Order: sequence, then structure tokens, then C-alpha cells
Amino acid sequence: MPKYTLNVNGEPKAVDVDADTPLLWVLRDTIGLVGTKYGCGMSLCGACTVHINGQAIRACGTPVSAVGSGKVVTIEGLAKNGELTPLQKAWCDHDVAQCGYCQSGQIMSATALLASNPKPTDADIDAAMAGNICRCATYPRIRLAIHSAAEGKKGVE
Ligand code: FES
Ligand code: FES
Repeated sequence: MPKYTLNVNGEPKAVDVDADTPLLWVLRDTIGLVGTKYGCGMSLCGACTVHINGQAIRACGTPVSAVGSGKVVTIEGLAKNGELTPLQKAWCDHDVAQCGYCQSGQIMSATALLASNPKPTDADIDAAMAGNICRCATYPRIRLAIHSAAEGKKGVE
């Protein structure tokens, strides 16, 4: 008998794991969704950011037992029928990614930001994204892409 049935990207996923297993490892190792990354494992870097009920959370610091019936969305769940979201398109248009390691977490945080604040200021962006570390320092492009998506712009400005 699986211990937990999670709702991940709109689909039920039955998993048999210990209660204290971090959601990050359930997503990556048990379910096979490896777009969510492991950075620090201590809720400090944001690489593992996913959504639960639309809120950006750290999957490395969230035990599977705390997820309950929450709707988990990972980077794999953003595009619909192969169509990237406007934010993902803006990300591509502005060549935000460098090494890419932090980027799924960045996009998940930025997606949650725009859902709650469709026209964020620079200060709003900095505050919302402060927990997502990028060793490649893509912060200016992240800001640009978020503004671009918020304004419905296409292409590099
Ligand atoms: S891996 Fe979760 S915050 Fe760093
Ligand atoms: S793109 Fe390399 S760590 Fe962010």
C-alpha cells in the first residue's frame, strides 16, 4: 500500500516513502521529475523551489508527510500541451540561463510572484526572488524577463 498519494502537475502519484523524506527526493528519485534541482538541501538556495497550492516552497525542506492534498507543481508542469508560459518564453527571449542549475527554481519563484503580483516593481522582484541564489549572477536578466512577461512584451527589448 502506498503511504501517500500526491497531486503532482495535476496527476495523482502514489508513493511509498518514509514520512520525513523531503519532497525534493520524492519528486526526483521516486517520481522521476528531475527538473527540480538539489542545491543546498537546507532551504537556503532556492534551487529546489516548487509550488504547493500556488505558493513557492522549498522542496528540500518540506517532508512528504506535510504535502497532504496540496497541489504540487514543478517546472515540468508549467507548460501546457508543449506551449511554454509567457514567463518561460520571456526567459528564453532574454537568454536568462547561464549554467542553468538554479533556473527551474528561479522560474518557479517568478511564476508565483507574477500570479500574486502581475506588475511587480524592481523592489517587489528583488524581495520575491531574494531566496533564489544564482552563482552565475543572472539577476539583471531575471528582472528583465519578469518585467517583460508582466508587460506582455515579446522578444528582447
Ligand atoms: S536545495 Fe532546497 S533551498 Fe537549496
Ligand atoms: S544560471 Fe548558473 S547558477 Fe544560476
